[in-house]
Amino acid sequence: MPSFPAGFRWGVSTSAYQIEGAAGADGRGPSIWDTFAHSPGRIVDGSSGDVACDHYHRYAEDIALMAELGVTAYRFSVAWPRVRPTGSGAVNPAGLDFYERLVDGLLERGIDPVATLFHWDLPQPLEDAGGWLNRDTAHRFAEYADLVAERLGDRVKLWITLNEPFIHMSLGHGTGEHAPGRALLFDAFPVAHHQLLGHGLAVTALRARTAAPVAIANNYSPVRAAGDGPADRSAVAAYEALHNQLFTDPLFGRGYPTELGFDQSAVRDGDLDVIAAPIDVLGVNYYNPTGVRAPEDGSPLPFELVPLDGYPRTAFDWPVAPDGLRELLGWLHGRYGADLPPVQITESGCAYDDEPDADGRVHDPDRIAYLDGHLRAVRAAVDDGVDVTGYFVWSLLDNWEWAEGFTKRFGLVHVDYPTGRRTPKSSYAWLREVIATARRDT
Ligand code: NOJ
Repeated sequence: MPSFPAGFRWGVSTSAYQIEGAAGADGRGPSIWDTFAHSPGRIVDGSSGDVACDHYHRYAEDIALMAELGVTAYRFSVAWPRVRPTGSGAVNPAGLDFYERLVDGLLERGIDPVATLFHWDLPQPLEDAGGWLNRDTAHRFAEYADLVAERLGDRVKLWITLNEPFIHMSLGHGTGEHAPGRALLFDAFPVAHHQLLGHGLAVTALRARTAAPVAIANNYSPVRAAGDGPADRSAVAAYEALHNQLFTDPLFGRGYPTELGFDQSAVRDGDLDVIAAPIDVLGVNYYNPTGVRAPEDGSPLPFELVPLDGYPRTAFDWPVAPDGLRELLGWLHGRYGADLPPVQITESGCAYDDEPDADGRVHDPDRIAYLDGHLRAVRAAVDDGVDVTGYFVWSLLDNWEWAEGFTKRFGLVHVDYPTGRRTPKSSYAWLREVIATARRDT
């Protein structure tokens, strides 16, 4: 493995609903994911995050696993419905107490806490009032950011407002595969705008409470055309605008891309200035490139997604393409130039069908190859001139993968769900060596 810049942040990522369990503990309220997971037919294996990895009770064991791995940072998310169960009413101090125990436990082991404020688990009462289609939710989000920062602003080392607002808009409100299960297609645009408005208001709220850097975690996917006719090229341009530009151009004062012809009546005077509040870091989640071609006649969408041939594939059937990470970092650098702050890879990882062998060991050579390739791609991007200052593996633990339930294992650590037993995989031992070497050399 080539060397990494001094101070490079080595981390692992998780999110609250995917690992915590304890859905009814200590005053937590329901979120849209509780509701969705308990609706028949929504989750492939009929499971929910009610128990998940039981991290809420096992967090000390999980911190010990991170300390042994040698990471310098842990990216977790705060569950809004634990902290303010109705989203707009009374605060639940017991919810904040949990995150305080977690943060203090991390700091004791020398691990930087990196807190994401919204990883898709909106309090159900806010959804009942319109959710992110309702502008009011942006203001409730800023209040929630304020109250988390009031408690933890002196200890969290990096704040991330939103996680993958594109996926929350597109799968949650465009196609309905994720909570809250709305299928509005392009009428979901207000969900983009209100999330970004919430982000901008939260940046301002956080600045008033903490000197720690503030970021957003967007996901990006290099777009590969499946054909080279003009119709394919305009399909690529439309998908680029939707996936890679819609949630990034406005952060850097460029407004919304116009290619998509969204109805922008939700955008009020001054909103774009709020959204363009400077950020200190851009969080980049990367999994794979996307194949696109021109849609069939009569399609409601201006593109069609197609599988990409010629790549190894993960258990999710996603193509393994480390070069896509280098490409997209170069694209961000080229497109946003001096506006682009330092980048941290806030998620990168893969699902494989990892199970213990007869000796109880879990061998995951495909994950080692995946991480090796993607870390080399990051290093190459640094050589290309992109300021990349960290890399977080998704995920520390096997966990509850949204509509896929427990069927997709992304962890460096295997979780036996019936017992909660954690078994580090061979990728964990490999990454421990990579991190130890990197930290020794810088
Ligand atoms: C991105 C999401 O942020 C995370 O919650 C999810 O588990 C991973 N991608 C893998 O799909």
